[in-house]
Amino acid sequence: MNESINKTIGVAFCVCLICSLVVSFSAVSLRDLQNENKLNDKRIKILQAADIYNPDEEIKDQFLKLETKFVNFETGKLMDTYMDFSLEEYDPILATRDSNLSSKVPTSEDIAVIKNRENIGKIFILRNDDYSINKLILPIRGYGLWGTLYGYISIENDFNTIAGIEFYDHKETPGLGAEVDNPKWKNLWAGKEIYQNGEVSLSVIKGKVDNNDKDAQYEIDGLSGATITSRGVTNMIAYWFGESGYSKLFKELNYES
Ligand SMILES: Cc1cc2nc3c(=O)[nH]c(=O)nc-3n(C[C@H](O)[C@H](O)[C@H](O)COP(=O)(O)O)c2cc1C
Repeated sequence: MNESINKTIGVAFCVCLICSLVVSFSAVSLRDLQNENKLNDKRIKILQAADIYNPDEEIKDQFLKLETKFVNFETGKLMDTYMDFSLEEYDPILATRDSNLSSKVPTSEDIAVIKNRENIGKIFILRNDDYSINKLILPIRGYGLWGTLYGYISIENDFNTIAGIEFYDHKETPGLGAEVDNPKWKNLWAGKEIYQNGEVSLSVIKGKVDNNDKDAQYEIDGLSGATITSRGVTNMIAYWFGESGYSKLFKELNYES
């Protein structure tokens, strides 16, 4: 009989097997493409933070306008080599999962709740034609409400004035914390200053900045209904521009120039 139970199970089994083979094959064969897309997404954010992104030009070609360097957070020195890592492939976030490549941030200093900081970071430099620095594009990250926000901030060559900010990954709520991606809010950052009397002063306040306020230069409008995300962004600025972050790099670069 054609409708035996064994035949039904056999056909179902074959269909399942074929489907699972197709899914596995697609997952494996598309993995490289997915990784390349993720990398390109980060590259776009870096170019956007530097305000040099052109959607009509090949991303890889545009990225060549930037110089990539390792940075030693302990000394603030830039480096071209680090162990066997290539500048292109080194992933500082992956490094935070390896205790040989990262250090635990003492709880008292961990205002951005990053837990581990890579010993060696990776930064991007936009140079002028005479090789002087035009902008630095620096990775930043810190905890918001639902998880860690990952982004890039770009700094003018006074190592104090913000040129741009972009986030490439976060878990904040659309319409609330996820407004960190809103171009209107991101545009508020350019021209603001980080340090006041040598201390990190820039913060995302609650409400709107009063431009007549003497501290307006160091303030960004809060994200409405998202005070916790706003505080998270303030904390990541405080951490990454403090002693454990990029402040030693800035001292080193000022000393060299
Ligand atoms: C479903 C849901 C999602 C929320 N998402 C966020 C968020 O992404 N970021 C945030 O700061 N607050 C978020 N909140 C609000 C916080 O719980 C908190 O009320 C808010 O940060 C306080 O901000 P406010 O003082 O500006 O009202 C969310 C609340 C709910 C109910």
